[in-house]
Amino acid sequence: MLSRFMKGAAGFFALTVFASVMVTVLDAVFPQVIRYTVDTLINGQEPTKAVGFFASLFGGADFLRNNLWMIALIVVITALLTSFFRYLTRVANARGSETMAENMRNTLFSHIQKLPFSWHTKNQTGDIIQRCTSDVDTFRNFISEQLVDMFRIVFLIVFSLFMMFSMNVTLALIALGFVPVILFYNNYFRHRIRDKFTEVDEQEGLLSAMAQENLTGVRVVRAFGREKFEKDKFNKQNEKYTGLWVQLGNILGWFWGIGDLISCLQVMLILCIGTVFAVRGSITPGELIAFISYNGMLVWPVRRLGRIISEMSKAHVSIDRLRYIMDSEEETDRPDAAEPDMTGDIVFENVSFSYKPEKQVLKNVSFEVKAGTTLGILGATGSGKSTLILLLDRLYTLAPDCGRITIGGVDIADIKASWLRKNVGVVLQEPFLFSRSIGENIAVTDAYADEERVELAASVACISQDVAEMTHGYETVVGERGVTLSGGQKQRVAIARTLMLDTPIVVFDDSLSAVDTDTDRRIRKALRENTENKTVILISHRIVSLMEADKILVLDKGRVAQLGTHEELVAADGIYKRIYEAQSAITEEGRA
Ligand SMILES: Nc1ncnc2c1ncn2[C@@H]1O[C@H](COP(=O)(O)OP(=O)(O)OP(=O)(O)O)[C@@H](O)[C@H]1O
Ligand SMILES: [Mg+2]
Repeated sequence: MLSRFMKGAAGFFALTVFASVMVTVLDAVFPQVIRYTVDTLINGQEPTKAVGFFASLFGGADFLRNNLWMIALIVVITALLTSFFRYLTRVANARGSETMAENMRNTLFSHIQKLPFSWHTKNQTGDIIQRCTSDVDTFRNFISEQLVDMFRIVFLIVFSLFMMFSMNVTLALIALGFVPVILFYNNYFRHRIRDKFTEVDEQEGLLSAMAQENLTGVRVVRAFGREKFEKDKFNKQNEKYTGLWVQLGNILGWFWGIGDLISCLQVMLILCIGTVFAVRGSITPGELIAFISYNGMLVWPVRRLGRIISEMSKAHVSIDRLRYIMDSEEETDRPDAAEPDMTGDIVFENVSFSYKPEKQVLKNVSFEVKAGTTLGILGATGSGKSTLILLLDRLYTLAPDCGRITIGGVDIADIKASWLRKNVGVVLQEPFLFSRSIGENIAVTDAYADEERVELAASVACISQDVAEMTHGYETVVGERGVTLSGGQKQRVAIARTLMLDTPIVVFDDSLSAVDTDTDRRIRKALRENTENKTVILISHRIVSLMEADKILVLDKGRVAQLGTHEELVAADGIYKRIYEAQSAITEEGRA
């Protein structure tokens, strides 16, 4: 997973590491120049071999003593180079981490697109969004601010220890003695920080999901006067979230405070003992100054290492949350999946299905829709009508031994999902419209569709009249979730969208529920004329919408209760007759 994220970014990170190590090397030169100036040039002592060698490159001690400006020049050049490499570090780091974050977002997005429908119904949108934004940011910050620095820090620690040991072993051992203490306390805090951060992150996901759901369901909230209830609920969760951050801040406060205390103690000890040594003459003043500088170089990175460790705990949590998404399996076709002819009969054979193990939604459902005919499905709410359609479109898959669904004799499990959906046009029960123009919504599967086709689909769906009355016609942008359209208009745009696909199989899942009976009749007439050779499945609660179908299936609590033509079913005693009589009575009452 990480290698996919790093594509194109690794080179920039390598450059960042190189430039930051160069900054460190140049930083380390300063104390040596000062030490040489104080001890050799001013006090006339012999320099170490390495320093002496470098000094000879610039003309030797005598020359430098008479040309002190050379020392100043070396200092200036070092400072300039340091600035340059610092700049390079920043630029390369920004390029690297932004490229990585871009990769992460793209990879996540395309992966999420391919995850099965059932995954989406299980996971909350707000939480997924939070993972793709906040968690990506946390990980990016860790890589860009911490990980790259780690190389520099390890280098610094090794380098400063080496320099200190080469100057005074006793003092160096005292300085080193503090490192295990620091590492131990870092480790102790690391777990606590990680646990707390997991809580914070999960709470943030919950909060995003809540906000997202509220914004989407704004109409329900308003209509039911639930503002205060929702606000209180949100405030409560928000307070919890804030509390968690405060607790995290508290842990971090202790962490940093104790860290400061330990490093101050270390510096103080080195300073005291070092001064005693210098008074006794076992260390020169120049050496002591250099030693203290290097000790500073040691203390800072060891503390920095602590910070990296605490940030690592956070990044670990974030990457686990991203891994949850990345490790979810994409919807795949069987290796030998085919693209067969889809104009054949649709057959459900002993189909049983449950969303959750404890509740069976469909029980041994068997029926057949002959190619080119229309099947009406009637049934109480919750009887499993929509579930049948989701299964036919393979948005949910059948478990083994739970029957099979075939089209033209081919099991749909052996058909490529993309092919299946290209051939089975479904108008879902709850149509979703994109925040685009009506024209774009109708032609959503074919951006290059010509206007005539869009208009034809719209007229069959009986929406063209409504569109003509709008100021911007097909260019009218419908709001988020089609807020600006009426329920019936939305349904008809969704019907037009499905008709655009021109599929051999068309399914209408209660798609006329929100239109008046007259419009219902007009649409059915237009549909009949335009779907002559198609296999049609029509789900409805209204018998008038179904009665002209070639066959009607009555579903009752997930079982096939009745199957036959309108005439047969009206003649037989059963659910259909009862509903028919009840609905005609209402119509009669209306007329009377
Ligand atoms: N994603 C899901 N997870 C769990 N249970 C579900 C899910 N979707 C539907 N159900 C349950 O499955 C049963 C059948 O639902 P389905 O949507 O198929 O009914 P329906 O016949 O289409 O009803 P309606 O006429 O109201 O549209 C219901 O009891 C419902 O609660
Ligand atoms: Mg339904």
